Amino acid sequence: MAILNILHYPDPRLRRVAQPVAQVDAAVRRLVVDMAETMYAAPGIGLAAIQVDVALRVVVMDLSEERNALKVFINPEILARDGVQVMEEGCLSVPGVYDEVERARHIRVRALDADGRPFELEAEGLLATCVQHEIDHLDGKVFVDYLSRLKQNRLRKKLEKQERLAM
Ligand code: NI
Repeated sequence: MAILNILHYPDPRLRRVAQPVAQVDAAVRRLVVDMAETMYAAPGIGLAAIQVDVALRVVVMDLSEERNALKVFINPEILARDGVQVMEEGCLSVPGVYDEVERARHIRVRALDADGRPFELEAEGLLATCVQHEIDHLDGKVFVDYLSRLKQNRLRKKLEKQERLAM
């Protein structure tokens, strides 16, 4: 097991479109284990492989308070969506930034689990928002893309300043 390095916005590597997993083999299972460890250590509730610089369609998530209900989505696809909800989101790749994003309230998603078995899941509320947030990562999108241009400019300035101070 290993804790992986998480890329931070606006790193251009977060903009890549992740490739489907051809086969859930030992390397993919190892990636899932390392991603889960990285997410729990952060701590966070969801992590997409692109955030640890692996351009594969793999997501791990755990919304439980006990942190013992790991969900793995390999090659996830949203089959249906309806309704609208606004929730405050954050992201391990955008530390310290939280803002409201509008997304579908209810979705049906299909994916492979960590053993490569297909499953379908109905999700609403926080789970629905999380799944949409993580699938966005697989398509090179970050939640701040939904914020107003003014907020995005402010955020970019703040991050540039932090980087200058860190040099
Ligand atoms: Ni995120």
